Amino acid sequence: MNILILGSGGREHALAWATLQNPKCDKLIVAPGNAGIAQIAECAQLDVNDGGAVSEFASENAIDLVIVGPEAPLAAGVADRLREAGFLVFGPSAEAARLEASKSFTKEICDAAQAPTAAYGHFTDAESAKAHVRATGVPTVVKADGLAAGKGVIIAETLEQAEEAIDDMFGGSFGGAGAEVVIEEFMTGEEASFFVLVDGEVCLPIGTAQDHKRVGEGDTGPNTGGMGAYSPAPIMDEAVTQKALDEIVRPTMAEMVRRGSPYQGVLYVGLMIENGQPRLVEYNVRFGDPECQVLMLRLGAQALDLMHACAEGRLAEAQVNWANDHAMTVVLAAKGYPGDYEKGSVIKGLDALPEDSFHMMFHAGTTLKDSNVTASGGRVLSATARGTTLQEARERAYALVDGVDWPEGFCRRDIGWRAL
Ligand code: AMP
Ligand code: GLY
Repeated sequence: MNILILGSGGREHALAWATLQNPKCDKLIVAPGNAGIAQIAECAQLDVNDGGAVSEFASENAIDLVIVGPEAPLAAGVADRLREAGFLVFGPSAEAARLEASKSFTKEICDAAQAPTAAYGHFTDAESAKAHVRATGVPTVVKADGLAAGKGVIIAETLEQAEEAIDDMFGGSFGGAGAEVVIEEFMTGEEASFFVLVDGEVCLPIGTAQDHKRVGEGDTGPNTGGMGAYSPAPIMDEAVTQKALDEIVRPTMAEMVRRGSPYQGVLYVGLMIENGQPRLVEYNVRFGDPECQVLMLRLGAQALDLMHACAEGRLAEAQVNWANDHAMTVVLAAKGYPGDYEKGSVIKGLDALPEDSFHMMFHAGTTLKDSNVTASGGRVLSATARGTTLQEARERAYALVDGVDWPEGFCRRDIGWRAL
């Protein structure tokens, strides 16, 4: 099979790495890729949000399967264009990608499917949003309806903070994403991420993870894309997992089928769990980054078979072979992230790191410059390791971190603290 992966982060490096473990992969191209991906696959410059350009590229390169990494091309309809052109695609249609691209759409689907989630109101003007907050009280959660790169969620402890967030969103600080606002009940409990492959009807769980969204140790400071993750998530025991499938995932996926827009791809189910009861926080229509890195290290070569079966609508006959293992990833970010940070610093020591089915230094934001690997993003590397216990995975991941010579970078030293 000739395979094209779209994206350039640690998630896509992990997808590429797992794909290459599988002998069914004859040729792999990643667009646009990064310096780490370029060491294992061909990289191509391509506007991944332009469905026409991606289709043309796929036919020129005799591609058999396209795996879409990030949400932006999905929301832009790239999977639709590829399917119209006859390509096999792993990733949902633009209509189904609204499960991530519109928070009010997801709430509506949950209502129709009676799936447990936070109570909410949906507003198109500031005054009615504020009146709702005054009536329901604080703490409350103010969300820009559209895609806001993970920044469109404000947890307001006071009425003033809530009103300020509402004014900011309607004032355009999140661009078009904030033209509509969702106000949600603040849920308490422990968060976990649950990953399910869906081929329209059939839902196949492929793993659980917990990530650390805050930049600082002890889960403090501003939100980031994720500073580290581990899999499995201890809180996702069999009973909670079964409830999440029966009460949330399956009914909402059935509602998508009923509406004529079946979901196909990986569904990232963000859950809040309290007293054994999961409630939906959000859906994403792609793998998490860095959660994908731990999932891929655990799944290995079978990840390609599973994504292929999903794209072909064959999940009913697919099976996941679980190993009784644990994985952890620690993100190395450029100093200053998630605020302003420098680009272009040189990263040394990467060549001496072990690379095998237990250790992988995935690249997230790197560029090759004059044969040096340089930092070109906020999140730059994702040190990922696997072991028979989480403690072993953790020791191996931090050993990778300690092998890197990059004074301009930093990481959190406490990834996994909750589980350990
Ligand atoms: P989202 O982009 O919807 O995942 O929100 C980002 C983060 O905000 C989540 O991972 C939660 O930690 C938090 N969050 C979102 N919605 C709620 C809610 N209704 N109650 C409590 N926390 C929330
Ligand atoms: N790590 C969170 C996300 O990918 O959305």
